[in-house]
Amino acid sequence: LLWSGGKQDLAGKTVLVTGGGTREFLDPVRFIGNPSSGRMGIELAAACAHRGGTVHLVLGPTHLEAPPEVDCHPVVGAAQMAQATFALFERAHLTFMAAAVADVRPSQIHIDKIPKNQLGNRLTLEPVEDILLELSRRKQPWQTLVGFAAQTGEDWLVPAAAKLKAKHLDWLVANRVDLQEQGFGGDNNQAMLLSSRGDMHAIPLMSKLEMAHRLLDRMETPA
Ligand code: CTP
Ligand code: CA
Repeated sequence: LLWSGGKQDLAGKTVLVTGGGTREFLDPVRFIGNPSSGRMGIELAAACAHRGGTVHLVLGPTHLEAPPEVDCHPVVGAAQMAQATFALFERAHLTFMAAAVADVRPSQIHIDKIPKNQLGNRLTLEPVEDILLELSRRKQPWQTLVGFAAQTGEDWLVPAAAKLKAKHLDWLVANRVDLQEQGFGGDNNQAMLLSSRGDMHAIPLMSKLEMAHRLLDRMETPA
């Protein structure tokens, strides 16, 4: 309510948000992960609920609490996230894929801890399914699909724009994660919102909750 001005523009809509990072275990004590805190997904879910949406949040491991007003589906690995996400997507008018999904996983999960001197030999990787790409294949005309891209370097918008196209998204939220004060883990974020029409909206540094509402405000116009 703080940033939405009491708008109920998502009343009657079902929203799916993914957030947090996935963990791909190689043995009981080690996993491949990433620094995502889950905060952007959590704030998006909260914002959508405040605006009247029925919200499902598929959330990777995090120390943060899911908002009580959303239906939270905790997951650990990318395969589990894919399963939950595909099932919930079927009814979702609006989907935000804010999770940081692993790109590779160990080809085998060892039941016993691997001695460290054997890790180099025994760790082999296989690709993880691109959940968002699969959602774009399943997408119906009544559904809106929003992707995220965490990029680095001066030319960070180039790969982001390529992902918008390659994954047939309506919207893509791109941000630079190699600058201080924004991106992974923090309270604040700064981003560029790209649309399938080729429009770009710069979103200056602000809290992730405020950004969630700003994104929703922008998306009221067609992509
Ligand atoms: N994504 C996904 N499943 C994956 C990897 C990524 O659904 N296995 C989604 C992310 O949730 C995000 C978007 O794809 O919404 C872009 O993720 P990103 O990591 O930036 O792009 P990738 O396509 O994985 O390419 P790369 O890591 O090489 O930049
Ligand atoms: Ca990736």
